[in-house]
Amino acid sequence: MRHLLSLDDLSSAELHHLIARAQEWKRLRGNPQAPRPLVTRSVAMLFSQHSTRTRVSFEVGIAELGGTPLYLTATELQLARGETPEDTARVLSRYVDALVVRTPDHTWLRRLADAATVPVINGLTPHSHPCQLLADLQTYSEHRGAIQGRTVAWIGAGNNVCNTWLQASRLLDFQLRIAAPESHEPSAEELQSCPGAEVLHDPRAAVRGAALVVTDVWASLGQDGEAERHRHSLAEYHVSRELMALAAPDALFMHCLPAHRGEEVEAELLDATDSVVWDEAENRLHAQKALLEFLLPPPTGNGREVSD
Ligand code: CP
Ligand code: NVA
Repeated sequence: MRHLLSLDDLSSAELHHLIARAQEWKRLRGNPQAPRPLVTRSVAMLFSQHSTRTRVSFEVGIAELGGTPLYLTATELQLARGETPEDTARVLSRYVDALVVRTPDHTWLRRLADAATVPVINGLTPHSHPCQLLADLQTYSEHRGAIQGRTVAWIGAGNNVCNTWLQASRLLDFQLRIAAPESHEPSAEELQSCPGAEVLHDPRAAVRGAALVVTDVWASLGQDGEAERHRHSLAEYHVSRELMALAAPDALFMHCLPAHRGEEVEAELLDATDSVVWDEAENRLHAQKALLEFLLPPPTGNGREVSD
């Protein structure tokens, strides 16, 4: 039984496998002969924060794989009245075959996962967003091939998605240049274990010659009250078509969305030809199908089979 709480829960070989398999799921979409590995299985999606892509892509993906998705909000469960994550995990594990969790507290996610007896998938915490990177890496691969040895520029807040790009750079062996102000550098722990990563303070230096330029909102989920402070500190980290012109001639632009058009990214860049943001969003569906299939192999002796 495996969880995906962080991209580090995967080996490089497993990550390569998931990216390739995600492309196969993309080709199989709509084919009535496509495998349905989640038939008879249910997946609970326990969300404490807003979501469009993660919620909808998991719900649709689980259904297309033959399974039953259950969307649960923490405020409607007994969690809101003090039931512990451990007790909740033990109980939900008796009903469903996997849990997808979005929470503002990564330690809480770990407590839940430690007590669960079914796979737990991180659907975003302030620490990381591994499902996003599965889709982003699939998207790079489908447009430009192997990312190994390339240079990726991250511009803006050193947040959960940035931390996950750091983990990806370790696993897939690419260079990551992060342009962030001192107040918004990514996790020091992640940085220390990433020989291919460097933090610069100048977005132009970070982007120069890069194969891929990535950004994200300045204020993440749970930081809405600090939006004005973030706007002030990050004003110089706006990604425009002019900045993109310093990257490699065939450079791509990514943003996990939702975007604040005109803030961290020039509105027109999202719709420009070098932007692959809509493919990234679509690929959440395909990449998560690959992930669910990987974490939920066909049942063997789990006590649920009907004997002759
Ligand atoms: N990119 C992403 O995770 O989007 P949502 O917050 O809409 O799920
Ligand atoms: N960094 C953003 C990503 C949203 C998908 C956030 O945490 O809100």
